[in-house]
Amino acid sequence: MIKVAPSLLSADFQKMGAEVQRMADAGADWLHFDVMDGQFVPNISFGMPILTAAAKGPLPVDAHLMIANPEKYIDAFAECGAKIITVHAEATNHLHRALQMIRAAGCLAGVALNPATSPECLRYVMGDFDLALVMSVNPGFGGQKMIPACIDKVAEIRAMLDKAGLKAIVEVDGGVNTKTALPLMRAGADMLVAGSALFGAPDAAAFIREIRMADAARL
Ligand code: DX5
Ligand code: ZN
Repeated sequence: MIKVAPSLLSADFQKMGAEVQRMADAGADWLHFDVMDGQFVPNISFGMPILTAAAKGPLPVDAHLMIANPEKYIDAFAECGAKIITVHAEATNHLHRALQMIRAAGCLAGVALNPATSPECLRYVMGDFDLALVMSVNPGFGGQKMIPACIDKVAEIRAMLDKAGLKAIVEVDGGVNTKTALPLMRAGADMLVAGSALFGAPDAAAFIREIRMADAARL
């Protein structure tokens, strides 16, 4: 069954705790936490203190580090309570080491790929990650439109994992709504991040239900 991770970036920060609870009540699986440093991406979001608070809620926190040299901060994010830590392949010279550090810190290890990055960069770290995050927008901002080329990339990564007999999760992030979810699920996505469409939906539970029903019906 498809899993859904609300991106906290689109929450109402004046009531963050209630927003996280609202997403848990709506049936979300993980809480997606977008860390931006103003260097790897052109925007700055939030970091450790907010993650510490978010991690006290009911959902496992998936920290998406859109930061340069992420290995410097892996242990700190793990200590704040992240259960999944995802680094960008483009943000480190030492992807293999960064993934090992994440696992050594007791977290699931994720690799994110920008829209123009080839899945080929995963080939020699295939057994070293638990999650591949396909960026379906250029990272840095919520509320953008999905780039359709990411659909083929999801299918390619899924095929690479299947061929290697690996069970890693394929996650997609950016421009996900109840319509764009369909081709992504058909291509083999296991987990969808949704920010503006989910937090802005009149009924978050209905939004998640609609995506799950479409997945179950293989629409
Ligand atoms: C973009 C972030 C996304 C973003 C998704 O840089 O990584 O997680 O918040 O937001 P929507 O769903 O609005 O595209
Ligand atoms: Zn993200």
